[in-house]
Amino acid sequence: MRKYVELYGLKKSFKDLEVLKGVDFQVRKGEKVVIMGSSGSGKSTLLRCINHLEHADDGIMNYNDRIIKLSRWTKEDVKHVRSSSAMVFQGYNLFKHMNVLQNVTEGLVQCKKHTKAEAIEIAENYLEKVGMKDRIKQYPSSLSGGQQQRVAIARAMALNPDIILFDEPTSALDPEMVNEVLSVMEQIASEGVTMLVVTHEVGFAKNIADRIVFMDNGVVCEDGKPKDVLYNPHNIRTCKFLNLIENRKTS
Ligand SMILES: Nc1ncnc2c1ncn2[C@@H]1O[C@H](COP(=O)(O)OP(=O)(O)OP(=O)(O)O)[C@@H](O)[C@H]1O
Ligand SMILES: [Mg+2]
Repeated sequence: MRKYVELYGLKKSFKDLEVLKGVDFQVRKGEKVVIMGSSGSGKSTLLRCINHLEHADDGIMNYNDRIIKLSRWTKEDVKHVRSSSAMVFQGYNLFKHMNVLQNVTEGLVQCKKHTKAEAIEIAENYLEKVGMKDRIKQYPSSLSGGQQQRVAIARAMALNPDIILFDEPTSALDPEMVNEVLSVMEQIASEGVTMLVVTHEVGFAKNIADRIVFMDNGVVCEDGKPKDVLYNPHNIRTCKFLNLIENRKTS
């Protein structure tokens, strides 16, 4: 399988705080990779360095056959990555002054240069997939968290990206809304798009992940098939972290 994103030696500090200390890993085309790790281990920073929402200090990325020096992005590098990727955030990040339909059509018209009519057709198609087509005139403030996140996923999918970066898409949701979003993500996973998902949802990771990458102390300390990482981890930090998750779920 072709590699889609390969990272070598990604480093990022915020002033004196060294968050990423040389991250190496790769995602192949079509692969679903789940990233886990304790709070503050740098998972969000890692995703944000990939699409240049955050500027890395050092490292190299091969992104779909373009080599990018991560401390020296060019405008073309940013365009190359942003035009073929989308991101879904923990806090949905919908435009509050736009209704559901406008939230999805905006990027299609502005970035993908579709006509308004085309954008509406594409948007309605994806909103139907996430079960939100009957809400197209509503504004984000009138939707539940789970509904807003499903709109955000439709917005990401509508851009027809090769890869979607998800940053804890369910962690801000009430428990009863988590499954509705996870089931939409499982449906997307079966459609072949490459997915890089930061999540603590072990069940989801078991169901969809080809690999789980575990981050600790600024590096990748475990990278393997879900059953190996979840049930037979090598690293002591992974063991501790997974116990913590299990305890939290049962308490
Ligand atoms: N813009 C910033 N300025 C200063 N420090 C930052 C900034 N962004 C992140 N950090 C720090 O970098 C570290 C890693 O943050 P990051 O958000 O990547 O962690 P995370 O693994 O995603 O954590 P969580 O599971 O809580 O979301 C944290 O100590 C955080 O406080
Ligand atoms: Mg985070």
